[in-house]
Amino acid sequence: MMESALTARDRVGVQDFVLLENYTSEAAFIENLRKRFKENLIYTYIGSVLVSVNPYKDLEIYTKNHMERYRGVNFYEVSPHIYAVSDNAYRSMRTERKDQCILISGESGAGKTEASKKILQYYAVTCPASEHVQTIKDRLLQSNPVLEAFGNAKTLRNDNSSRFGKYMDIQFDFKGAPVGGHIINYLLEKSRVVHQNHGERNFHIFYQIIEGGEEDLLRRLGLERNSQQYQYLVKGNCPKVSSINDRSDWKVVRKALAVIGFNDDEVEELLNIIASVLHLGNVQYKEEEGYAYITSDTQIKYLARLLGVNGTVLTEALTHKKIIAKGEEVALRSPDQSSSARDALSKAVYGRTFTWLVNKINASLAYTDESHKDASVIGLLDIYGFEVFQHNSFEQFCINYCNEKLQQLFIELTLKSEQEEYEAEGITWEPVQYFNNKIICDLVEEKFKGIISILDEECLRPGDASDVTFLQKLEDTLGGHPHFVTHKLADGKTRKVMGREEFRLLHYAGEVNYNVNGFLDKNNDLLFRNLKEVMCMSENKILTQCFDRDELSDKKRPDTAATQFKASLAKLMEILMSKEPSYVRCIKPNDSKQAVRFDEVLIRHQVKYLGLMENLRVRRAGFAYRRRYETFLQRYKSLCPETWPNWNGKLSDGVSTLVKHLGYKPEEYKLGRSKIFIRFPKTLFATEDALETRKHGLGKSRGFAIAIQAWWRGILARRKAQRRRQAANTIRRFIKGFIYRHKERCPENEYFLDYVRYSFLMNLHRNLPKNVLDKSWPTPPAALTESSELLRKMCMQNMVWSYCKKIDSEWKHQMEQKMIASDIFKDKKDNYPQSVPKLFVGTRLNGEDINPKAIQALGSEKMKYAVPVTKYDRKGYKPRSRQLLLTANSAIIVEEGKLKQRIDYGALKGISVSSLSDGLFVLHVPSEDNKQKGDVVLQSDHVIETLTKIAICADKINSININQGSIKFTAGHGKEGIIDFTPGSELLVAKAKNGHLSVTAPRLNSR
Ligand SMILES: Nc1ncnc2c1ncn2[C@@H]1O[C@H](COP(=O)(O)OP(=O)(O)OP(=O)(O)O)[C@@H](O)[C@H]1O
Ligand SMILES: [Mg+2]
Repeated sequence: MMESALTARDRVGVQDFVLLENYTSEAAFIENLRKRFKENLIYTYIGSVLVSVNPYKDLEIYTKNHMERYRGVNFYEVSPHIYAVSDNAYRSMRTERKDQCILISGESGAGKTEASKKILQYYAVTCPASEHVQTIKDRLLQSNPVLEAFGNAKTLRNDNSSRFGKYMDIQFDFKGAPVGGHIINYLLEKSRVVHQNHGERNFHIFYQIIEGGEEDLLRRLGLERNSQQYQYLVKGNCPKVSSINDRSDWKVVRKALAVIGFNDDEVEELLNIIASVLHLGNVQYKEEEGYAYITSDTQIKYLARLLGVNGTVLTEALTHKKIIAKGEEVALRSPDQSSSARDALSKAVYGRTFTWLVNKINASLAYTDESHKDASVIGLLDIYGFEVFQHNSFEQFCINYCNEKLQQLFIELTLKSEQEEYEAEGITWEPVQYFNNKIICDLVEEKFKGIISILDEECLRPGDASDVTFLQKLEDTLGGHPHFVTHKLADGKTRKVMGREEFRLLHYAGEVNYNVNGFLDKNNDLLFRNLKEVMCMSENKILTQCFDRDELSDKKRPDTAATQFKASLAKLMEILMSKEPSYVRCIKPNDSKQAVRFDEVLIRHQVKYLGLMENLRVRRAGFAYRRRYETFLQRYKSLCPETWPNWNGKLSDGVSTLVKHLGYKPEEYKLGRSKIFIRFPKTLFATEDALETRKHGLGKSRGFAIAIQAWWRGILARRKAQRRRQAANTIRRFIKGFIYRHKERCPENEYFLDYVRYSFLMNLHRNLPKNVLDKSWPTPPAALTESSELLRKMCMQNMVWSYCKKIDSEWKHQMEQKMIASDIFKDKKDNYPQSVPKLFVGTRLNGEDINPKAIQALGSEKMKYAVPVTKYDRKGYKPRSRQLLLTANSAIIVEEGKLKQRIDYGALKGISVSSLSDGLFVLHVPSEDNKQKGDVVLQSDHVIETLTKIAICADKINSININQGSIKFTAGHGKEGIIDFTPGSELLVAKAKNGHLSVTAPRLNSR
């Protein structure tokens, strides 16, 4: 918690500058920064503003664990961190549904870009994600290396200096997942393309391609792997930088381009443009009679191919100019003019390609899903901070103007939010004295009277306007303005430190002298018409988007650079105004990129330029410290007997009681609706110190705590010991019981016997037979043999009963027949067992299987069963195919349509069948009955079924004789026939030599 660090304040300073006793002292401010910097504490707050000092070394404070620590935690409960700001903005966006922006400022090398990357990473790691979101997260993260390759360069101040301003929106859906992004870029330093100061480099991308591009690629681009071959890369005399690895950076950029969605063709077209800029730089002129001509056409050939333009037309455009006013007249250029035309072209091509690149990235970050339309936004502004050099030109003028605007916004928003908080808390507003820099903003941007208007006027007016006439105009119009001075207007003292071509602005952050040289040119930012025409004819797809043909026909002059910048800033202010701001103020500790070195002069400079003292004054104007009642009470309640250990009344009353007990004087604090406001840090410090002492006092109760702990540990240990004792007893009893198991029940074995019974019954319960055929049954212990048998019977009865319950009438009928078959044949006839699993059918022949005449002959008699049979005639035992029909009264043998023989059941004397597996059987009839021609010898393939049916229909269950060896029968007219049965390998029925019918029946395995 923030307050907890207060006791170490002598060593590590305070985490919030508002707690500085002497808050108006710059020295105290810087001393606090120094203390913290020494302890690697690079972050400090001014209220909710984060001040960050570049450590110039990797600190272990950006791990995933750190991110987790700051996630969803109250701002003041953890030490100051960029993640706390990120998380706070994120949560405000989520809970208040208000768009946020984080403004990062500071001078070159102070760590703005690093800070913005840390914020982005924080969101990428901690926000919820889905598959689509992952792509967006990747693209958001990967847009950085690409933009840095094309827009950053090594300068004297920073090896990776952003040469453009950047505002990035991160869009979140209602679940808080990042779903899209949008980037706006500001004022790229194009002049770097054609010129670099000593010790500086061109944009990284040039070196990356030359160092990292594959041989093949370089050949296609016509480039050599040596940056010193290119005029645009030698000016700064600094091809290599120790902290930069161009080759591996190229790999990163190449991959990032793919992630963002560039296909190979687009990458190639983009690189063609970059390479063409290098070739343009190598176009050299010679002079002939004052006019320029190009010495060799090598470069032109490359350019023609890479840019997709006509080489001759390009050559002419570089060396000639068109003067429209004089009727399309063409004039030659001097070498100087040609060089500047060439450079203008390079700058225009590079600058517009950069803008195209930003648009391309935006297209890849754009969220397309309509349902995301109500996304919330967090904006990140990483923009150039206030700059003062020895020589300051148009660029510094623009940059410092931008910082004036941001300061203005900062003042307005901070004051506004302070005022709103006072109002919300019901505390009277105490006016704050601060410098309002609106007067300087007006000085720069006011219509007609502002510096930009005057500059534009000079750029546009006919006649020989120059940088000098511009300066004179400024003096004429602005002379006497309290924030504007020139050499001519200045007093003697100031005059000494000003050049004649300079004007001075008294910015909120300090004075800056601007040299007017180049202002008009830079503001005009013109590209000769014929060069523009050439570019409009380019076949390179990117350039066709950068150079629009409409531009040629548009007679209206494009806005000047300063006016465009002013408009883009106005837009930016509008964007920022609509959001809730958080601020990160970056400070660079020294000019030599060293860790540890704390250059006080340099830092004081920045504290001033960043307006940090002003910031602190506004924040401290009323009260140094404010906290919600519950937080305050929770922390300090132990300092007052009435609030300790718990306060049960209203929070505000609790706080009131507490501070009165502490002896706060009325002027030291105020109670708002939900917060306490404390005016002086010393009041808080005294309270904090009292708490520290109290904690030591509370230390005495440590002894009690230890006693309670010991007592509780004792209980736990005793419980454990008891459980162990019980376990040992059980084992002992079990062993003894096992030894006495065969004895009568006695104290020694009763536990064991009970256990064995119990476990048998439980086992039985788990393993009862599943059906009547399942004969398994666990073996019972001796004591349970009888019970087990009873149980087994019960179980079987139960299963039978439930089986019977499920039987339907059809199945019952089937079973009854099977029972009869069993009574007759079981263990008596060989093929009986095979018949058991085969169900008996109602009949083997239906009406349609029987000749209709036979049916007709049956008349009203109902057929109960019919089966095909073989009849053996009585003389030669010839087999004949017949049908056997059973009715209620008789068995009838049918041949085709005739009822050949009818045997009334009353006349059926008996039935004979063999004990073997054959299907023969004999129906015996009385020999005296003349109607009958003797007993009937038949064979059925379903002999068991057929005979069972006959037995049932004729009620002759007891009249079936099962014979061994042979069967005698009457063959009519008193004659007798004999059938002999013998077992064999297969069924054979034939008349034997002895005149008997011999039947060989196959042996079946079952018997
Ligand atoms: N938090 C940090 N931890 C470690 N090193 C840092 C940190 N912030 C910045 N640096 C170091 O400082 C260098 C410069 O930082 P950065 O590029 O962010 O500056 P900048 O403010 O964006 O400058 P410019 O205005 O030139 O773009 C980084 O390349 C890095 O080496
Ligand atoms: Mg930067």
